[in-house]
Amino acid sequence: MNQDDQKKAIAAAALEYVLAETESPAPIGIGTGSTANCFIDLLGEHKDRFSGAVPSSEASAERLAAQGIPILNFAESGRMNFYVDGADEINSELCMIKGGGAALTREKIVASMAERFVCIADESKQVPVLGAFPLPVEVIPMAAVSVSLAMEKVGGKPTIREGVTTDNGNIIVDVHNLEIGDAQAWEEAINQIPGVVTNGIFAHQRAEILFTFSEGRVISVLA
Ligand code: A5P
Repeated sequence: MNQDDQKKAIAAAALEYVLAETESPAPIGIGTGSTANCFIDLLGEHKDRFSGAVPSSEASAERLAAQGIPILNFAESGRMNFYVDGADEINSELCMIKGGGAALTREKIVASMAERFVCIADESKQVPVLGAFPLPVEVIPMAAVSVSLAMEKVGGKPTIREGVTTDNGNIIVDVHNLEIGDAQAWEEAINQIPGVVTNGIFAHQRAEILFTFSEGRVISVLA
């Protein structure tokens, strides 16, 4: 099955899981990216089961609205049972690198308001060690150079993502050449660098369940 079809099949399996565990009508947190888009498109057919969705980006908000799904803020949603989103890389402990779509900070915030992070990620995203995918770091613009120097000190090769401003008005520094063994320690250390808003390691908020593809079929993996 090609990657696009895998994404659709994974999104469908995740939606089935969420529906089975949802007492309607409930709010749901929704991520960003092409796999999250597949989920949003399917969610439209079940919108009566949800009071609305808290999106992690303007792009996802638009796509949800096009499906007729009400957009909620946290005051309206409160804590949610589920946050559903993709990943750029995921390891066997269900720690992830996210932020390929530059939405990492809002993704982390919305994920923090949900009991369960449901990750939907095709086969290509599974890795033994995080870091082959350049780590996105959201940075306040004036700190571009200082954060880049700090990342070089720990062995990274930072590049500023050209032409990208985040939904929060910041820049993205992509850090190549990292081998992220202890994901939680790396996440904490990078967040201590002045000017970093957040980094794309999701270890404190790893996924509780992963829907992915293996040996020609959709599988789920629990943390
Ligand atoms: C968005 O900022 C990212 O965290 C996405 O979740 C990630 O890039 C996965 O995107 P795809 O589903 O398009 O691969």
